[in-house]
Amino acid sequence: MSNSKSIFRTKPIEELLAQASGKGSLKKVLGAFELTMLGIGAIIGTGIFVLTGVAAADYAGPALILSFIVSGITCTFAALCYAELAAMIPIAGSAYTYGYVGLGEIWAWIIGWDLILEYTVAVAAVAVGWSGYIVELLAAAGIHVPAALANPPGQNGGIVNLPAILILAVIMALLVKGVSESAKLNNILVIVKLGCVILFIVAAVGHVNPANWHPFFPYGVNGVFTGAAIIFFAYVGFDAVATAAEEVKNPQRDLPIGIVASLLVCTVLYIVVSAILTGVLPYMSYKNNAAPVAYALTQIGVNWGSALVAVGAVAGITSVLLVMTFGATRILFSLSRDGLLPQVFSDVHPKFGTPVKSTILIGVLTMVLSGFLQIGKLAEMTNIGTLSAFAIVSISVVVLRKKRPDIKREFKCPGVPVTPFISVAFCVFLIFKLPNFTKMVFVIWLLIGFVVYFAYGRSHSVMNREKKAS
Ligand code: ALA
Repeated sequence: MSNSKSIFRTKPIEELLAQASGKGSLKKVLGAFELTMLGIGAIIGTGIFVLTGVAAADYAGPALILSFIVSGITCTFAALCYAELAAMIPIAGSAYTYGYVGLGEIWAWIIGWDLILEYTVAVAAVAVGWSGYIVELLAAAGIHVPAALANPPGQNGGIVNLPAILILAVIMALLVKGVSESAKLNNILVIVKLGCVILFIVAAVGHVNPANWHPFFPYGVNGVFTGAAIIFFAYVGFDAVATAAEEVKNPQRDLPIGIVASLLVCTVLYIVVSAILTGVLPYMSYKNNAAPVAYALTQIGVNWGSALVAVGAVAGITSVLLVMTFGATRILFSLSRDGLLPQVFSDVHPKFGTPVKSTILIGVLTMVLSGFLQIGKLAEMTNIGTLSAFAIVSISVVVLRKKRPDIKREFKCPGVPVTPFISVAFCVFLIFKLPNFTKMVFVIWLLIGFVVYFAYGRSHSVMNREKKAS
């Protein structure tokens, strides 16, 4: 298959591994600890600090805890599939590369295109969440950012969301400079945000009033699933660990640890936080509230805790920005290195050892999106992109077990093919729970992707050149 002109041509794993260690490859600086921190860095952010309020008040009520469990289960199944492939094929492109090896070029392209959407809109959504918290914090310090400069058009008289653009410019500069510097900053940010989540749990748990959990299903059981589809955003990011594969010292061992450990830590924290949030105040108190975690503490009289949680949220959300932007640039890098997008995006800077041009392109794209769009739509787009990528990754596990049983698997996903199929079923189910508008935009994005592939990628694919050369 690999030598054909078929859109289903696949890449030999051996060739990919050689490419990753050859000329133009990325610096190897990360270990299991950094990867777990990278995962937590990408996961805990706007989802728990901002979107929980919306999900509790508008979709699930106190049953929000079940929404978190449903989303958590979906991610656990997907994470086990991811871990098998990441350890087997530790290449920068993550799910995109797994698709190239297992399913063929066109599928790989669809996943890659899909992941660019996921990471780019996620970064934009998260930057908007960051902007909301920082504007509040500045206001508390007596500095008032004019509403016109802190909101997108169509919201509170906004013209542009300037704080969101500024933080993304800083993130872009950091990522240009280097991965190990960014990883060090990430570790500090993750410790601060974990500290704040734990502080919230300790300060609020004594104020839980079980009466607030009644009625438990104000929006019916269906509300649990709609809530799960929205709150899924809070889990997005553990997959970004896999995009760092080429920069890992011992990927076969460290990638599965990084992916599974970061997801487990976050799942436990989310379940506890959502139970406490809906336990300390009636769920309707979170209606239209952009800072529910800090708000809950203020309401129960822990004002110092509220201020600390706000600072933690800003730190936490910054690390999500760092890791997700990183992920987007590595996907772009991989698509470009394989010739499916112009080659300039896989140039590695001679001094910094990072893909500077793809970092700048992603930086500019996210700045434009976050400056001018609203957070809700951006978050929903992230979820649909991620859920589709998870479904394809899960299928790849089954296909690769059949097609390439010979490849050594340092980590084996348990219960194949049942586990991948359950993962697919959960992902597809949650996609159907998302709003129709989101599904429509997603289909348009995929159609544009097909045009780019057939107009450019198919004829420029490195696989053609290899064929001609031989
Ligand atoms: N999971 C990330 C967040 O909640 C995207 O901010």
